[in-house]
Amino acid sequence: MKEFSVSNDTSAFEVPAVLDENGRLADHCARQAVTIMDTHGLVILTGLLSDDEADVGLELISQTIEDPDRSQCSFASETDNRYLRRDFCSLPSTPRVTSFAATLCQRVEGVVSEYCGRSRPVLEIATFTSYLGSSHQYIHRDPAGVISLFAAVEDVSEQQGGTVFVPGTHMYGGADNNHDGRAYEWMELFRTQCNYRILWHNLRKLWVMRKADRAALAPGEFRDRVFSTKWDQHQPNLLRFVLGKNSQFSLRMLGPRRVWNLYRNRQALDDLFSLVQTAPRKGTVILYRSDLLHAGPDNRSPHARRIFGMSIARDIIDPKYWHDGYSPHPSLTDRPLSFGDLLDSAPLPAPSQRVEHRRSA
Ligand SMILES: [Fe+2]
Repeated sequence: MKEFSVSNDTSAFEVPAVLDENGRLADHCARQAVTIMDTHGLVILTGLLSDDEADVGLELISQTIEDPDRSQCSFASETDNRYLRRDFCSLPSTPRVTSFAATLCQRVEGVVSEYCGRSRPVLEIATFTSYLGSSHQYIHRDPAGVISLFAAVEDVSEQQGGTVFVPGTHMYGGADNNHDGRAYEWMELFRTQCNYRILWHNLRKLWVMRKADRAALAPGEFRDRVFSTKWDQHQPNLLRFVLGKNSQFSLRMLGPRRVWNLYRNRQALDDLFSLVQTAPRKGTVILYRSDLLHAGPDNRSPHARRIFGMSIARDIIDPKYWHDGYSPHPSLTDRPLSFGDLLDSAPLPAPSQRVEHRRSA
């Protein structure tokens, strides 16, 4: 996005996956991943899945997306879903989906078990596809107390829009003591600054799309994305922005004092925080703490961006709070799964040769 700088250097958050003889992350690898996760709020495990395993994930995603009766997610951007700019939907708990999820859980057990006990519920197993013309989400935090996992089942380019994170903005006991006891205040200012720019980025893009051949707007789409009364937290909806009906970003957040603080501290904010955009290669898995500031960017390429996602609670969770941020498939609601269930489930059969080669001695 040209309105502000986003770094594509994710090297500080990456750990090359090395597996032990049981096909799980080797101890030293898991320890390094936990340290990075605690410091920055996310970790990127490169090469965690073999090509064959990633292909299974892609096949499961494709089958779900082709199903006219798929269960679309109710969070993120419903307007983007409606106009096929995104296709966020949950995966059914079939034996193959469960095996794929079990493979991932078992491989990252050494990291996730630092945060989630065996009895903690799997909140969602889903797929997040975005197409050309989607909106850039506002920078936000997901409901707290959750570990989320994204698996790249094919290469994701910068243009396709790998998730954007603000490293180091996760919340924990005493985190607010940082930056002279003003850490949360600075984070909120930075978020507001980013979201102001994202609003303009999305509006400018929609304006261009009005006359474009590619990603041309559907009838009624401009009105629905800019002036609709319908709930949607991630559209550049000016009506809801002015009325203060968007909890992610609205005029209410731009009082005179906040605007003055933003102006006065603009350089300090850029020195304290940075936006980092991931562009995961096939087989890479990203783990992040749900309260880390992040956003799903827009897809600026003609190629669909597909990601497999899964979220596991770190604590007991109230069902309403759960469904505000996560969309379990009806089959998962009927037959709940815990982290321990997935650790005990049969994984995908025989890892491919490529994984064998990477195993530690
Ligand atoms: Fe999110």
